[in-house]
Amino acid sequence: MFCRLGFAINPPYVVGVAKIFLVDDELTMVQMVAEVLQADGHEVFPFTSVNGVSEALTLHQPDLVITDLYLDRKSAQGLDIVRKARALSPPPAIIMITGFGTVESAVEAMKAGAFDYLEKPFKLEELKLCVQRALTHTEMVAENRQLRKELKKQYRFTQIVGTSPPMLEVFRMVELVADTDATVLILGESGTGKELIARSLHYNSRRAQGPFIPINCSALPENLLESELFGHRKGAFTGAISDKVGLFQEADGGTLFLDEIGTMPAPLQSRLLRVLQEKEVRRVGDNSATLVNVRILSATNENLESLVKNGRFREDLYYRLNVIAIHLPSLKERREDIPLLVAHFLRDKLHARANLPFQVSRRTMETLCAYHWPGNVREFENAIQRATVLAALPLIRTRDLPPAVQASAPRDDGSEEIPEGLLTAGETNRPPPNSAEQSCAITPVDTPMAAGNLKDFIRTQEQKYIEHVLRTLRGDKEETARILEISLATLYRKLSESSE
Ligand SMILES: Nc1ncnc2c1ncn2[C@@H]1O[C@H](COP(=O)(O)OP(=O)(O)OP(=O)(O)O)[C@@H](O)[C@H]1O
Ligand SMILES: [Mg+2]
Repeated sequence: MFCRLGFAINPPYVVGVAKIFLVDDELTMVQMVAEVLQADGHEVFPFTSVNGVSEALTLHQPDLVITDLYLDRKSAQGLDIVRKARALSPPPAIIMITGFGTVESAVEAMKAGAFDYLEKPFKLEELKLCVQRALTHTEMVAENRQLRKELKKQYRFTQIVGTSPPMLEVFRMVELVADTDATVLILGESGTGKELIARSLHYNSRRAQGPFIPINCSALPENLLESELFGHRKGAFTGAISDKVGLFQEADGGTLFLDEIGTMPAPLQSRLLRVLQEKEVRRVGDNSATLVNVRILSATNENLESLVKNGRFREDLYYRLNVIAIHLPSLKERREDIPLLVAHFLRDKLHARANLPFQVSRRTMETLCAYHWPGNVREFENAIQRATVLAALPLIRTRDLPPAVQASAPRDDGSEEIPEGLLTAGETNRPPPNSAEQSCAITPVDTPMAAGNLKDFIRTQEQKYIEHVLRTLRGDKEETARILEISLATLYRKLSESSE
């Protein structure tokens, strides 16, 4: 990026105070530039020779280095400073000052990693613009790095819940192959987490800084899918009004995730095989091919082997894609993970009115474990989300589950109607659970111990329940009456009976 006067720049970021190293063997030059930068609020470290710069770089970690190319009247020592600065983590932006204005020296500076260069003599305004651009660039790079880190965190293995033997096997495979370039085929029923696994393979690989491009092969008709994947040249077919870069090229340096690969039409299977073999793509209507460096992950919920047997999927392509296979278990094959998944999907969720973390009744937990979950984790996640919206209390009861799931509920023993154990004193302000272990706080509600005749028992439990709801809602009687679906007068009467 070259900085020239005569055009206005409007940086999208407000550049804050920066640490700037200034290295030049002309004392007057150093003084003048330092003054200008200090006036803008920057902290300037001036050097009039190369001595000590290297150590100071490590010590102070500047945001920007402005250095002359020829220092101490010797050969291009400025380039050494550029190299040392580039090795810092994170590296500062670098502006090179060239005395002779030769194109070669400028090119050399840029090649060594300088962000920009300034030819002597330069105007101070020109310097200020150059500094502003360099600092804006550094801030954007830092922000980008941070965003990528966040993204990576999202796909850390801790976000993929499961401790059942089949899930432990999945984790073992993911760890084994993530940081390789191996082609991986992810198999599993719909909603078992195939895309989640694909993303975590990418974000835990050396390609994490590159793009992750998913494409659902079943979502587009054959000709559109072809130009989407491979790109096309303008005029290659009716409607190709401009050149288009395909997803293979877009994913260069990263990962291409071919979802629902089993639905890929036969002609495209052949083209895909060629790309995998030759590592180059040819756009539709193009004679020349472009080299691409892409890792291929694919997924399917179909039985690819039987598609191969029926002649609907190329055998050679199957073997190419299936270098490593990861089998995701269906949810019913790992029912022991259900309490963990409940905790995972309820984490950080608070009941809207009561502002309290959710708990789950024992009957609900039993129902969730009994249901067969044909839509697997996706269906499960939706059921939990729905329940958090519908639940009248910060307790999820079977009535809050979708009707199809409710059908798997065990016999109603009344434990849900009188949730005495919902929250005991002192638990009302408990913070939301933040780890799978802690989230065991989502305890099933115990069936209360019966005592005396049925009428007394019901009365006692009713009182306890009313007190509990009242405590949960921090003494708000109107809200308590509303949730209990009784009038305020009834509530007062029942409360006075309990204090008798
Ligand atoms: N083991 C898991 N832990 C936590 N969340 C999961 C897990 N598996 C799946 N999910 C969640 O379930 C939902 C569905 O997952 P995903 O889209 O990866 O499934 P899929 O197998 O690609 O589904 P489909 O075949 O329908 O495309 C996502 O919200 C995902 O985050
Ligand atoms: Mg998917």
